[in-house]
Amino acid sequence: MDKFVVRGGNPLLGTVRISGAKNSALPCMAAAILTEDEVILENVPQVRDIETERKLLASMGAEVELGYGRAQHRTHIRCAILSDPVAKYEIVKTMRASSLVLGPLIARTGLARVAMPGGCAIGGRPIDLHIKYLEKMGAQITQDHGYLEARTERLKGAHIIWEKISVTGTEDLLMAAVLADGETVMENCAREPEVTDLAALLTAMGAKIQGAGTSTITVQGVAKLHGARHRINPDRIEAGTFIIAGAITGGDLKVSGCDPSHLGALLETLRSCGVRFDINGDTIRVRSEGTLKAADITTVEYPGFPTDMQAQYMALATQAEGTSVITENIFENRFMHVQELIRMGANIRIDGRTATVRGKTPLSAAAVMCSDLRASASLVLAALVADGETILDRVYHIDRGYEHIEEKLRGVGAQIRRMGEVFGKK
Ligand code: UD1
Repeated sequence: MDKFVVRGGNPLLGTVRISGAKNSALPCMAAAILTEDEVILENVPQVRDIETERKLLASMGAEVELGYGRAQHRTHIRCAILSDPVAKYEIVKTMRASSLVLGPLIARTGLARVAMPGGCAIGGRPIDLHIKYLEKMGAQITQDHGYLEARTERLKGAHIIWEKISVTGTEDLLMAAVLADGETVMENCAREPEVTDLAALLTAMGAKIQGAGTSTITVQGVAKLHGARHRINPDRIEAGTFIIAGAITGGDLKVSGCDPSHLGALLETLRSCGVRFDINGDTIRVRSEGTLKAADITTVEYPGFPTDMQAQYMALATQAEGTSVITENIFENRFMHVQELIRMGANIRIDGRTATVRGKTPLSAAAVMCSDLRASASLVLAALVADGETILDRVYHIDRGYEHIEEKLRGVGAQIRRMGEVFGKK
């Protein structure tokens, strides 16, 4: 299994370029199911979850070509025939976002069999609401042998009020609604930029959608969608991770190719920690000299502080003077990184959904274990300032969502190397 070896102590200097958003690319790839024509996606990141989604679509009969390098991360998908509309457990168990194919499959073929996702490191992550609202649109859903089977003649428009805000839930139902008969109104929707990105692709495919990016989305169903070409948004979580890398190392880092408007809550928090930013178009220059100050955060849905940045922020909080109270409101068990940070010398106490970090404590290198995608990023950040050589095990978690993170970090001065096979460069 791959490991990262990181020697801490270098300030990050220079420019790092941000890749396309994995969490936009995943639903956009699923949206290709909605048409027999070709969908071309640009700026698709070369990460393991995208490869998993390629396998998933290919296993259903789709033609998927992931192009990297000179092909500029362009992906071609044609779902002319979906001979086997099944999301198999072997694939779903490695990537919970596989449940995103449920809505488009049933909308396009009237039949979907999707393995129920199990638990995951950060909590239960049920898809009960996806099921409930698809039923409201007329799908008959049964469950056997660990699979959900959904059938319908044609989905019908419905009025849906999300009991809980769900990102992939909003996306799944949006993809169902675009081919449904009549109007669907969804209230209390997720407002994440990834939802807006998906809606832009669907609109380019001929869907009639209003309100994406707000909490109420209205869709007029159409009979058919056509092919389209779409460029995926920059990854706000990758950008946020590099911004924290610049700040925690006391560097001077330009994070380019990002969308600063998607990073409001993070930038505001970091400003109160004493980090300075200059924003110029799609580039954020991060500078941090001297002492970082503690600040409290509470994770909430967009546009609030993202749960996907909580672990990385905690690494920074260990290096800030004072007490930072970090409250995780979205997932029940998203503090897997805490024990590893404590092993590196952090002073953190967990009480239910709250972690109290007392800083600044010097961090010392240790052998640590990655438990999930963002927890791994947090450990890389801690390792960048730790005294000595940290060895991170199970970096396949990080390869799920960060494109060549070790190369990007090395490019701006970090001492990091991989032991084992480089994902995407066999
Ligand atoms: C997406 C992101 C993930 C991010 C999360 C929250 C993708 C591929 N993943 O995950 O990176 O951390 O949003 O921003 O985009 N819930 C239910 N029932 C449901 C659906 C959700 O109870 O049917 C609950 C979840 O358990 C969780 C909360 O709603 O407590 C939010 O989860 P959700 O927004 O659905 O997360 P994902 O879409 O899985």
